[in-house]
Amino acid sequence: MFSTNKAGSQADKQVDKESFLLRRMMDGCQRRAKILAVTSGKGGVGKTNISANLSICLAASQKKVLLLDADMSLGNLDVIMDINSKYNISHMINGHKSIEEIVHITPGGLGVICGASGLEGLANVGEFQRQRLLKELSCLQDDNDMIVIDTAAGISKSVVGFCLASDHVLVVTTPDATAMTDAYAMIKVLAGNKFAGHISVTVNMARTIAEGKKTYQQIANVAKRFLGVDVYDAGTLLRDERLNNAVRMRKPVVLAYPKAQITSSLVALAAKLNNGCAANTSEDGFFKKVVDWFF
Ligand SMILES: Nc1ncnc2c1ncn2[C@@H]1O[C@H](COP(=O)(O)OP(=O)(O)OP(=O)(O)O)[C@@H](O)[C@H]1O
Ligand SMILES: [Mg+2]
Repeated sequence: MFSTNKAGSQADKQVDKESFLLRRMMDGCQRRAKILAVTSGKGGVGKTNISANLSICLAASQKKVLLLDADMSLGNLDVIMDINSKYNISHMINGHKSIEEIVHITPGGLGVICGASGLEGLANVGEFQRQRLLKELSCLQDDNDMIVIDTAAGISKSVVGFCLASDHVLVVTTPDATAMTDAYAMIKVLAGNKFAGHISVTVNMARTIAEGKKTYQQIANVAKRFLGVDVYDAGTLLRDERLNNAVRMRKPVVLAYPKAQITSSLVALAAKLNNGCAANTSEDGFFKKVVDWFF
């Protein structure tokens, strides 16, 4: 299903980039991407690996997908995906690079923006520049079917801002009590801020499917009972040493082990999220909501 070709030649990359730009011109910014934020509460539960692999699966199913590393301090998507990206949003803010130049296109056609730390810089730009940037950024939303946001851990203002601006929040947890408590804390913050989108939970690093299901059910029950919130089951991913091997190889596991069970589970997760992610109907685009939240 997936090409296991290493990074691809320079010529391939050029063709990828050209076809991306061509598609963008032909599309005339017609679409409005669904926004999926992948978040957790507790750190180290697998958000970045899930975001990367999920995005690859979605792009492989003919979706035009953009993956944004929104971990403003410790973003490591570039490491997991072996992307050597020189530019991020800050280069666009200071006017040195265009939006096309900060999007890294992978051989599979997935667009990736590494390090959204530049978004913080928006606080210091004038209104004219801010509007210009917002226009460029919202073109990204118009230009993709889906934008996947890999957030940092915790319930900081920045993480919550990205989640609230999204259509669908995928809360990642493990069966550990601390991870479950922190996942619930995130759901509580979303509910407290009247988040109107979809909330799903995926249980990662479970020892068995039954353990994953039980973990999901416990969180869903408490969220329903105390917050009145419906939390959907995005499925279980088992603990698998192949995922660690893939990280060491700097290759997403779905590409390193296309036939493994963890790959099938990630493909199923992508299909589920693709179906459950309601279309963006808001007048305000995702990036406008993010910027309004921050400033
Ligand atoms: N299903 C899995 N099986 C085995 N190891 C896993 C699995 N999922 C994630 N890991 C390992 O857990 C570690 C953390 O993964 P990852 O960086 O994706 O988490 P994160 O939630 O993004 O962390 P952070 O909060 O620091 O951003 C990595 O070493 C990864 O290899
Ligand atoms: Mg991470």
